Amino acid sequence: MTKETPAPEKTFTLKNDQTGEEWQLPVVEGTYGPHCIDIRKLYGQTGHFTLDPSFTATGSCKSKITYIDGDEGVLMHRGYDIKELAADSTYLETCYLLLYGELPNKKELKEFTAHITNHTMVHEQIKSIYQGFRRDAHPMAIMCGVVGAMSAFYHDSLDIWDPEQRRISAHRLIAKIPTLAAMAMKYSKGQPYVYPRNDLNYTENFLHMCFSVPAEEYKLRPPVVKAMERILILHADHEQNASTSTVRLAGSSLANPMACIASGITSLWGPSHGGANQAVLEMLDQIGHKDNIPEFLERAKDKSDPFKLMGFGHRVYKNFDPRAAVMKESCDEVLAELGIDDPQLELAMELEKIALNDPYFIDRKLFPNVDFYSGIILKAMGFPTEMFTVLFAVSRTVGWISQWKEMMEEPSIKIGRPRQLYTGAPSRPYVPIEKRK
Ligand code: SDX
Repeated sequence: MTKETPAPEKTFTLKNDQTGEEWQLPVVEGTYGPHCIDIRKLYGQTGHFTLDPSFTATGSCKSKITYIDGDEGVLMHRGYDIKELAADSTYLETCYLLLYGELPNKKELKEFTAHITNHTMVHEQIKSIYQGFRRDAHPMAIMCGVVGAMSAFYHDSLDIWDPEQRRISAHRLIAKIPTLAAMAMKYSKGQPYVYPRNDLNYTENFLHMCFSVPAEEYKLRPPVVKAMERILILHADHEQNASTSTVRLAGSSLANPMACIASGITSLWGPSHGGANQAVLEMLDQIGHKDNIPEFLERAKDKSDPFKLMGFGHRVYKNFDPRAAVMKESCDEVLAELGIDDPQLELAMELEKIALNDPYFIDRKLFPNVDFYSGIILKAMGFPTEMFTVLFAVSRTVGWISQWKEMMEEPSIKIGRPRQLYTGAPSRPYVPIEKRK
């Protein structure tokens, strides 16, 4: 279990070795995890900034929502371990937990479910936005557009200072994101949109909207529904990752919450982040056969080669990503249920085995992450590869909006505005073009 935080030092002393000046910086502690040196007054006291370009050692906020112990491979939401949530909870129950901090009782869950269910339809005019895209547009490009466009449709909840309007926006986003995602998939396939059905639960409804066609209703198989439910639970939130930090930064300017979620979708799309699930399948295609694994592992180690082992490594996890273990289990179940013997799964397992015994990966503590197996399950379910990151966005919307809500509930909100170390040209006079070389 995650190690308790030892009693904190009260302050850190910072000393300027040139002038001998010393400053006492306060140390703040959380429930778990490293203590933080509070540097909010550092510039005022020392005239110095800190420099941490990719925030490897910088806390951007305090949060009660999610905690990751990267060394132990632990992920918890509001104190509940992800493995228990994936095994025993539902996605909507996890949404409630992330948003409101406690597991709902039966009445609360019933009311929350009803509210989400009754907001799953989108404004009919949103259909015309899809028409603006080429049929071969990446569905993440479509999602960036249509989710951003949502900010133009709900003028009854624009007051972000009103908790009730924040709640409505959060519920609308959770309710409508599966509908928009399914529409993106249908649009890419040239099939008609499928309306949500209120008699289905959230996950069943999503699969229905993605795979039913007017000529035939999608046959819901419990193991597939359960695997989809788990995938949604596993991707729901993950501390201050790139896309969540993007949403928080966008939200700190008091921007429209729907537009902030669109910014999160944009950030998630990158192959270093949520786009990795698509990139893993493409990588497995590229490797092709287990005999080629050694060559690709060497390429992954070669700094001059842009090839990376997609689905491996993580900024925080220096142990197995607990989500990957659950994902692998789901993979076996879904492939067995569907009677699929996917050579890519065999290849992935062989790749994982070899990589985990390779000093390069061992020394750098590079383990499979959440994206390594998810693509294989999603492919088995029938999702096109380009839809994989969209599914990640469907799930992560609740994490993004929960983190946005937490920020908006802070006693005071300051716009996020990092500083920099300027290394550009010194001051110089303008040169008229006639005098330029
Ligand atoms: C997600 O932040 C989150 O929480 C994200 C996420 C979430 O739920 O929101 O968990 C979801 O984005 C999972 C990660 C998905 N991305 C991938 O699978 C892409 C492949 N992974 C890498 O791009 C990389 O591991 C990152 C981006 C995930 C993490 O990069 P870091 O933290 O910046 O680590 P690094 O690049 O500094 O790596 C340290 C070393 C380097 O080598 P050295 O300079 O020490 O010699 O490890 C090497 C890296 O070159 N390395 C890899 C590698 N990942 C890191 N080498 C080969 N293949 C890899 N996959």
